[in-house]
Order: sequence, then C-alpha cells, then structure tokens
Amino acid sequence: MVDVAAPQETEILGTAVTASGLASLAPVKIPVQRYISPEFAELEHERLWPKVWHVACTVDHVANPGDWFEHRLGKYSILLVRGTDGVLRGFQNACRHRGNPICQGSGAGITELRCPYHRWAWDLAGRLREIPSRRGFGPINNDDLPLVPVKVDTWGRLVFVNLDTGAEPLEGWLEGIPDDIAWANLDEFRGTYSTVTPVNCNWKVVNEGFSETYHVQGLHREMLGSINDVDAPQRIWDHHSASYQAYGVPSPRLGRNVSDQTVWDSFVATQGGRMGPDYTEPCALPEVPEGQTLQDVIAQNIREHQATSGVDLKGYDTAQITHLSQYNLFPNTTLLISADLFTVLTARPGPSPDTGELVTIHLSRMPSADAPASSPVHVTVPMDQADFGFVLNQDFSVIRTMQAGLHQPGFTHVWLSGEECRIINMHRHLERCLGLAPGGWQRSGHLH
Ligand code: FES
Ligand SMILES: [Fe+2]
Repeated sequence: MVDVAAPQETEILGTAVTASGLASLAPVKIPVQRYISPEFAELEHERLWPKVWHVACTVDHVANPGDWFEHRLGKYSILLVRGTDGVLRGFQNACRHRGNPICQGSGAGITELRCPYHRWAWDLAGRLREIPSRRGFGPINNDDLPLVPVKVDTWGRLVFVNLDTGAEPLEGWLEGIPDDIAWANLDEFRGTYSTVTPVNCNWKVVNEGFSETYHVQGLHREMLGSINDVDAPQRIWDHHSASYQAYGVPSPRLGRNVSDQTVWDSFVATQGGRMGPDYTEPCALPEVPEGQTLQDVIAQNIREHQATSGVDLKGYDTAQITHLSQYNLFPNTTLLISADLFTVLTARPGPSPDTGELVTIHLSRMPSADAPASSPVHVTVPMDQADFGFVLNQDFSVIRTMQAGLHQPGFTHVWLSGEECRIINMHRHLERCLGLAPGGWQRSGHLH
C-alpha cells in the first residue's frame, strides 16, 4: 500500500504545475468505496453537503419579487425565493407542520409560500402567516415557526447556498478565484438556460471527468489539433483548483509540424459554433494575415460573432478569447470561462451512490453589466436525449459506463497521476470534511 500522505504529494499540491509537467514519486490511490458505498454516501450527506457552499442557479432564475427556484442536492431541498422587498432568501424546503416540501420545481409570481397539504402559509420572508383551523393546536406563536433559513449569497451572477447558517462567508470560501478571473468581467453575463440530467453514476465520476485534461488524448482525440493539453498550467488553492488551456494551437502530442489546416479543422469540429453558425460544419481555412497567427484569426472571428449580439470583445486579447480558464470549485462544480463563454457544470449526488445528476448552467455575455435580467429556461433532459455538443457528448459516453467498472470485485482503488492533481486535491479536502485519514474511507474503525 502506498503511503498516500507522503510528503512529496504535499509539495506537488502546493505548487503551480502544468498538465503533464510533473512526475509523482508514487501514484495516489483512492479506495473505490468512496464511489460505491452507501455508507460513504451517507457520510457525505451528513458531513459534506450540509456544510459547503454550492451553486444553485443564476440570479436570473430568481430575478423578480415572487420568483422561486427549488434547489435539490441529494436528499436535501432548498427553496430560493425573491421577496417583495427584493431580497433573495433561501429556506429548507420543509413545512413546519408535518414536513411536506412546500414547493417543487420553479416559477414566478407567488405572494406567499403555502404548503399544499394542510395549507399553512408563510410570507416570502419566511414568517408564518396562517394556520388553518388554528384553534385545534392550542396556543402557537407565529414567530416560533418561521421557515428554516439557509445562507444565500451571489458571485458572478451565480447564486450559492449553504445549509450551514454558521458557514464562513462565500467571499472567503471562493479563495483566490474572483481575483484570478476578474479580467473577464463576469457581471456582464446573464443566464440563458440550465439543464438537469439524471445519471447512473456517483457524483464524483461526473465531477472528476471535468477535473483533468489527461483524458483529452484518449476521449477527445479530435480536439488534439486545437488544444495544448500538455503545457496547460494547473493551480491548486486550499480546496479549489484551476486549469488554463490554450485553444487554437495544436497539442505537442502531434509533433512539431502541425498545419494550420489541422488546427482549423479541429477547432471547427469541436467548438466552431463560437465563431458563428457558418463554422459548425467543415469549412475553408481562412487566410492568416501577415504578422498574425491562426489563433488571432479565430479570436477575431469570435469577436465578430459576439458583435452580432451587440457584445464588444475588442478589449479582450487573443489569449483571453481562445484560452479556457477552468475552475474546479470544491466539491462538485466546474466553471468554464473564456471572454465569450461562461458555462457551469455541477455534479449532484442522487439517492444512492450509484446515481446522481449533471446540472449545466449556460450564460451569455451582454453588451454591459447594466443589461436587464434574462429569463433562463430550466429543463430536465434525460440522458438518452442529452446532446450538449461534440466534446461534452464524448464526456457523457464515459459517464454512462464508469459506474459498472467501479463495481467489479477486483477493482479496489482508483489510481491517480500528478497530472490529475485537481482530483487528488478534491479528495484531500473531502477527507478533511468527512474526518477521514488520507486514503481512508470510513470515519472510524479500520481505515482501508
Ligand atoms: S404538512 Fe404542510 S400544512 Fe401540513
Ligand atoms: Fe472531457
């Protein structure tokens, strides 16, 4: 058994590293029970999910007084409501009478929160207002039975919630990420749509699929012509992490003499739509003006496409448009950000360790930060109907199959490389949250 707490790993995790620019002295082994054990999933429900900030929706989902949005997370349900005073609040979604969930789904225009069972009612600030046939209860003080509040805060148009009312402020929880991405002016984005897709795998399988670029050479081979997956810097904070990937340039894995044609065809095949509808099918290689690169031309095409929506990207250079900043927010959210795009991928637990949900939130940049709120559509998309584009569909193919492999009796551990340091860091902080020894999976007794 490898000592997973070996000091060399601490050094790795504290250092900015490129995707494949480091060699661990030993692989890190994570027990498979973390992905398949009902006891482990229960421990997460007890010690992780009620304690962490996590993304629920965008401000646009709950922009107006009377807007509401149910945020589910495993067995937990949180009700977000914009009050008549304009304040966004969150409550545990349980009636104080006998516990029925008060609202399911999302909607607009409510003036009270009324339980459908016996019709107890609260105002949008969570104050109890009405108990039908009240006399039968004897004396009840309305102030004693408000809806149970949860913490709510926002950053970059995203609404975060935390069941722990004593949790540290969101600002501190986000560590260095807001400063790191300040150049992108995220306040200019608005939510356009969000999706929920039930998946037959553990939430960590989904999450970890968006936490390394090691799989690009295997799963996304068409992308190799237009991504530098080898030299992509990675960054580790205490519990969050990041990867910065350059697109519009070839992977060093393809050798030195990669033609512009290869780069162009790869970019068009995997994300040509960023340049507009004319670039979603194979198309002619554009001329590259003297003194420019193909990457500059791609960036300019993206600028011109954004300009058709009134968005001016002149202030963003080629790198800010063609590079992707990928943030892995502990424990279960990935932010994908370039000057023209902002996508949020969240992996939620399901009722068992073998089930979960992939939630996507798509945002678009508006002409200015003063743009009015949008009205995002929020839909459930079954896995067999999910089509999220060329690259994400490839990720989905693995999400469909992984859990079966994890259940094979001879499979005992996941083996991780230094290249997968963002996954390692997630597990290290998970261990701290759950009270586990490094590499362990049970809270007490013998650690496997
Ligand atoms: S459970 Fe809600 S009013 Fe009875
Ligand atoms: Fe992928």
